[in-house]
Amino acid sequence: MELAAAVRGRRSIRKFKSQDVPKSVIMEILEDARWSPSWGNTQPWTLCVLTGNTLAKFKEMNLRQTLAGAATASDVPMLEQWPDAMKARYGDLGKVVLSAQGIQRDDKAGRMKYYQDMVSAFDAPCLILACISRDNLVEYQMLDVGLIIQTICLVAHDKGLGTCLLAAAARYPAEIRKIAAIPDDQKIVVGIALGYPDPSFPLNNFERERAKLDEIVHWVE
Ligand SMILES: Cc1cc2nc3c(=O)[nH]c(=O)nc-3n(C[C@H](O)[C@H](O)[C@H](O)COP(=O)(O)O)c2cc1C
Repeated sequence: MELAAAVRGRRSIRKFKSQDVPKSVIMEILEDARWSPSWGNTQPWTLCVLTGNTLAKFKEMNLRQTLAGAATASDVPMLEQWPDAMKARYGDLGKVVLSAQGIQRDDKAGRMKYYQDMVSAFDAPCLILACISRDNLVEYQMLDVGLIIQTICLVAHDKGLGTCLLAAAARYPAEIRKIAAIPDDQKIVVGIALGYPDPSFPLNNFERERAKLDEIVHWVE
């Protein structure tokens, strides 16, 4: 696939076919992704790949905690007050994600069902958790993690697979550590749901928006 087509064609996939992803294919993706750049080639990331029974346990836990209203305790702090422009884009995404599925704003059950799908990693057959050492962590190391997760998403897309980055998969790190044997000194940053996309599902097809260049680029000639 041409690079620009891959960059533009990758999109978050929120429904997967039930087909498993062969371990060899997951390995190929990770073999490519490990060539992502990082500060001083420090490669601060670790990746925990969940499939099969372990992934089933994760999904059950994440759903159970969500339904019980358990307080989230993400290793990475969430922004509480979004700047106006970002808040507006976040709100727009929320609306389009619901309307693409025909869920009305006042349809509490429909919204809850969608939320449950999300915390169940959209039933992906594979979930990769991107982690980073708790020690010496500053913003640049988070940037490094961002680079490898984007590379994973692009390489997966190139192979006909779909991904969805999921902060919603990293909200109960203490529980995840028990299931996935992730050591205490590792922060769990984000999950990447991985699988074969279901092309007929409307949420995998709606038209996405991006800010125009003049909103985000400041030229100084
Ligand atoms: C750090 C991060 C966390 C995300 N967490 C979630 C999530 O929990 N649930 C979800 O549905 N999408 C999540 N996304 C996906 C974004 O909503 C998505 O990338 C954005 O809307 C742009 O759409 P696109 O990926 O289809 O281009 C996350 C993306 C990033 C970068």
